[in-house]
Amino acid sequence: MNNLAAIILAAGEGKRLKSKTPKVAHEILGKPIVRWVLDAARDAGIGKIVTVVGHQSETVIPIVSGLSEVVVQPKQLGTADAVKCAMESDALSGFDGNVVILSGDCPLIKPSTIKGLAEVCEDRHAGVVVLTMHLDDPTGYGRIIRDGSLQSEDMAGGGSGEGAVNETDTAGGSCNKAESVCRIVEQKDADEAQARIRECNSGFYCFNARELRDSLESIGSDNAQNEFYLTDALEIISRSGHIALAQESTDVTECLGINSRRQLADATAIMQQRINNALMDNGVTMISPELVWCDADVEIANDVTIYPNVFLKGHVSIGEDSVILPQTTIADSSVGRECMIGPNARVSDSTVASGCTIDESVVYESTLDDMASCGPRAYLRPGTHLCRGAKAGTHVEIKKSTVGAGSKVPHLSYIGDTTIGENVNVGAGSITCNYDGKKKNETHIGDGSFIGSDTMLVAPVSIGSNAVIGAGSTITKDIPDDSLAVARAREKIYPDWNLRH
Ligand code: UD1
Ligand code: CA
Repeated sequence: MNNLAAIILAAGEGKRLKSKTPKVAHEILGKPIVRWVLDAARDAGIGKIVTVVGHQSETVIPIVSGLSEVVVQPKQLGTADAVKCAMESDALSGFDGNVVILSGDCPLIKPSTIKGLAEVCEDRHAGVVVLTMHLDDPTGYGRIIRDGSLQSEDMAGGGSGEGAVNETDTAGGSCNKAESVCRIVEQKDADEAQARIRECNSGFYCFNARELRDSLESIGSDNAQNEFYLTDALEIISRSGHIALAQESTDVTECLGINSRRQLADATAIMQQRINNALMDNGVTMISPELVWCDADVEIANDVTIYPNVFLKGHVSIGEDSVILPQTTIADSSVGRECMIGPNARVSDSTVASGCTIDESVVYESTLDDMASCGPRAYLRPGTHLCRGAKAGTHVEIKKSTVGAGSKVPHLSYIGDTTIGENVNVGAGSITCNYDGKKKNETHIGDGSFIGSDTMLVAPVSIGSNAVIGAGSTITKDIPDDSLAVARAREKIYPDWNLRH
């Protein structure tokens, strides 16, 4: 959309969240509230976006800069003042198209609704279009005052108003036809009759830039809150004979603002449902979608099955035919085809190729090649690479090590700073003693070697290929290829010893 800009208002404090973190920086499914609004504006095709920041701007700026221009509102004097700061900034001072205004604390707005609002403004040559909603309990919201007849209809029944036919020309926005509006009265300034109106201001608008600028000049702060209200612009525009419209949204959830932790939870549930519905529409099976939480950047191929209690966080990509078992968390990872993950698994910043199994395990910054497996109860720490078909079994911890193709560390072992070749078997309870109290030392194990159970490999140490180590050995010297090493006390037998006592 050419000649369309957006202003996102995000300078307010959000006292009711009772938080050290500014309201718009709180996250919904891994993304800060204001980023949801910003991304909706970008997805609506708006190239020029200005975010107004103020309260704790040092926290908010890193979230929005790079994706939008940033303007600081020095004092939070009201929504009109915030918009004025944006309009006077370098980004918008010469701008003469239409300007969409979005509340930075309303993350559920959809791109199609933003587009629809902008299209109505353009098509009807309006000075302003405001998005409205009917609420059973309008407490706290600005009330929409239309012309006399509509006002009384509102007060009587809260219907959609005369002529409430769906706009056919909007790009999928869930809205009724826009009608004219006289003014908006804030809750704190409303008389009894006005307070009974149930059509409310959602806080989303599209203005013609010129008329917005003109009206901002004459907005005062003579009201119950001594603030400069952006809502006063509507009355100014309509009185000056220009077109001021109100378009009712039929999906009030889109306009849900976050003012409390309860509303944060409500918005999270709605966003979770939206994301899961989109994934299911793409061919993902979810046994209980209400128990699956996927962040916005999660990609899942079709024919993947996800069991309950699963968290997919950050940048996760999951290939075809995978199965994600219950109680699993995967973050910033990519998972290939036909894998089995879970239950009770946590996988982050990792790449999991096809046909892998991760069972009740914790996997960080690791790579699993095709057919590799870990668990139950393995702990793969950063720098672990399980090559094709390699196995880290029960109660095995591996750090900064490569386990070669077809090699197995099946039970109760610690492997650190180690390179294991192909087709090696590391017996139960074996440990690489990689730390001498000062520094970490390396262990190398050649292809085809057999490490007997309960072996201590005191690093630095190098085991050749096809070597065999007797169980219970403590190895401190390098072992050449094809050799047997045994390093343990000889077994002594005392016959009939027990009969003498
Ligand atoms: C506002 C509207 C109200 C509407 C409601 C919808 C006004 C005067 N009232 O009320 O009609 O029903 O939204 O949610 O606009 N902000 C700034 N700088 C400021 C003040 C606010 O950036 O100086 C930002 C806030 O961070 C917030 C947005 O503007 O994102 C709305 O401000 P808020 O104080 O929440 O307005 P409401 O009282 O909710
Ligand atoms: Ca608000």
